[in-house]
Amino acid sequence: MPLLEITDMTVAYGRIEALHGVTLHVDDGELVTLIGANGAGKTTTMRAVSGIRPLSSGSIVFDGQDITRMKAHVRVAEGIVQAPEGRGVFAGMTVMENLEMGCYARTFASRAEHDATVDRVFELFPRLAERRTQLGGTMSGGEQQMLAIGRALMARPRVLLLDEPSMGLAPMIIQQIFRIVSEINAQGTTVLLVEQNAQQALSRSDRAYVLETGSVVRTGPGKELLADPAIKDAYLGVA
Ligand SMILES: Nc1ncnc2c1ncn2[C@@H]1O[C@H](COP(=O)(O)OP(=O)(O)O)[C@@H](O)[C@H]1O
Ligand SMILES: [Mg+2]
Repeated sequence: MPLLEITDMTVAYGRIEALHGVTLHVDDGELVTLIGANGAGKTTTMRAVSGIRPLSSGSIVFDGQDITRMKAHVRVAEGIVQAPEGRGVFAGMTVMENLEMGCYARTFASRAEHDATVDRVFELFPRLAERRTQLGGTMSGGEQQMLAIGRALMARPRVLLLDEPSMGLAPMIIQQIFRIVSEINAQGTTVLLVEQNAQQALSRSDRAYVLETGSVVRTGPGKELLADPAIKDAYLGVA
C-alpha cells in the first residue's frame, strides 16, 4: 500500500482547470520527483496534497486514510508537511523562531523529542546552528531555503513536500540542497519533490512523473527517464 496515493485528481482555479485527472503515488521511504515546464501544474499538485487547494474531483489517500477533504492544518498534524515554493521564511523572526514555527501545528510529546529534532536539523544544516539568532530576512537565498526545509523538518514529516527548492540559487548551493534532500530521504523521510532542475532531481529519485499541462504524461524510475531521449530533449536542455 502506498503512503500517498492520488487518484484521478482534478483541480481548478475558478473556471480554469489546472489539473486534469492526475494519478500518482509515493511509497513509504521513496524519493519521488515531479518534473515539468512552467505552468504544468506542479505547484497546484503540491497545494492539493497539502490541502491549500481543494479538489474538484478525485481523491487523495494518505496511509490508508482518505484525506481528500481534510483541512490543511490537520494534514500537517498527520505528517504531511510542505516547504512551500518561494520558501516563506518569516523575515522578522530569527532562525530559531522560524524553526519553532515549524512545530506549531504538530507539537512535541516531550522536551527531549523537541531537542532531538532541533539537533537533527542543525546536523543537516550546520549553517543554521551558527546563525540561530540571525533574522530570517537577512539570510542569503540558499540559507533561507535551508531554513524553509529545516522548519518543515521540525514538524517531523512522514512525507516531506518540497516545491522547487533549487529555484534561484547558485549552482554550488543547488548541489548542496540536493545532497541534503537525498540525506533526509536516506534517513527515512519520504519525499515528494518538485523540480525544474530535472538532471539533478531525476538522478537522485527512485521514481519520477512528468507533468504536461495538467496531466501526467510519463512515469518511471528516475534514472530511466534521465536516459530517455524525449525527456532529454524536453527537460534536460541538452546542447
Ligand atoms: N492562483 C491562481 N489563479 C489562477 N490560475 C492559477 C493560479 N495558480 C496557478 N494557476 C494556473 O494553473 C496552472 C498550473 O500552475 P502551477 O501549478 O503553478 O504550475 P507549475 O508549478 O508547474 O509552474 C497554470 O496554467 C497557472 O497559470
Ligand atoms: Mg510551481
